[in-house]
Amino acid sequence: ERTLGIAVLGLGNVGSEVVRLLTAHADELQARVGARLEIKGIAVRNVSPDRGVPVELLTDDPAALVSRDDVDIVVEVFGGIEPVRTLILNALNSGKSVVTANKALLADYTGELAAVADAADLDLYFEAAVAGAIPVVRPLMQSLAGDRVKRVVGIVNGTTNFILSAMGETGADYAETLAEASRLGYAEADPTADVEGFDAAAKAAILASIAFHTRVTASDVYREGISEISAEDLASAADLDCTIKLLAICERVTDDTGRERVSARVYPALLPNAHPLSAVNGAFNAVVVEAEAAGRLMFYGQGAGGAPTASAVLGDLVSAARNKVHGGKGPDESTYAKLPVMSIGDT
Ligand code: HSE
Repeated sequence: ERTLGIAVLGLGNVGSEVVRLLTAHADELQARVGARLEIKGIAVRNVSPDRGVPVELLTDDPAALVSRDDVDIVVEVFGGIEPVRTLILNALNSGKSVVTANKALLADYTGELAAVADAADLDLYFEAAVAGAIPVVRPLMQSLAGDRVKRVVGIVNGTTNFILSAMGETGADYAETLAEASRLGYAEADPTADVEGFDAAAKAAILASIAFHTRVTASDVYREGISEISAEDLASAADLDCTIKLLAICERVTDDTGRERVSARVYPALLPNAHPLSAVNGAFNAVVVEAEAAGRLMFYGQGAGGAPTASAVLGDLVSAARNKVHGGKGPDESTYAKLPVMSIGDT
């Protein structure tokens, strides 16, 4: 019986669900993959016996875990840039495929990480980095690989959508609703990333990069958050048969000289109630993709929270594991043409 060793980096909301699902569905996943997925270790900041997993799996030395010979795939749900970037590079350089949910890292380093993964014929998968459970990365990179995407517009931050929905529905207080989003496990450790649009901007950078086969980083994305939006603003929008949503908008644009560029921006937008994104409430996310031949597609579902995000991680893990067993590799991410990105002043 073949076994693939899995290292899990992080045991927060998402990591705990990944470990739980891997354990609960071990037999079924084995049948799907053709090998048993065995957790070799879980890296945490503080090793303690009350983490809900066998304590002997825990380690506070992620570098040692990643370099173990019996680890085939590294699942990264720590978040943050360093030491995670180095850990992922070390994993790829030592023959391990990587599944990550780390939007902040990918927003700036997809190019670097993908180049290493592609050179080594290893998978680097990141479906969970954008819009939680909703399959949107894979459709853009694979299903639409033969089409030409014109525009991607989405609600990609659950926390701010939860806050705007609650403020619009009941006039709820901004601070109280944000605290509730944190309690429910939607918000980032530092919710400034949510409310000021940094999280959505990171996701917009990833979406623009994969939709338009170029490199867009978070600093290329124009960004405004929702901290200035009040319940009165939402009431005024309702009077106009509209609502306010924090949108991530990524599109191909042609500049004055006829050159094609990419524009990516995040801001609270007044949206007519007739628009399909206006009906997306609570912590739900939705992404509308417009492609030349496919026309308009809409992806909708749970964009935040432990279990939905873990679903996307597990999907990537199964794909990476199948490739380890049967050969094959996900799409090459490093073979990108460079489309110029519109500078923020241009938008
Ligand atoms: N804080 C993020 C959100 C989590 O609210 O959407 C999912 O990336």
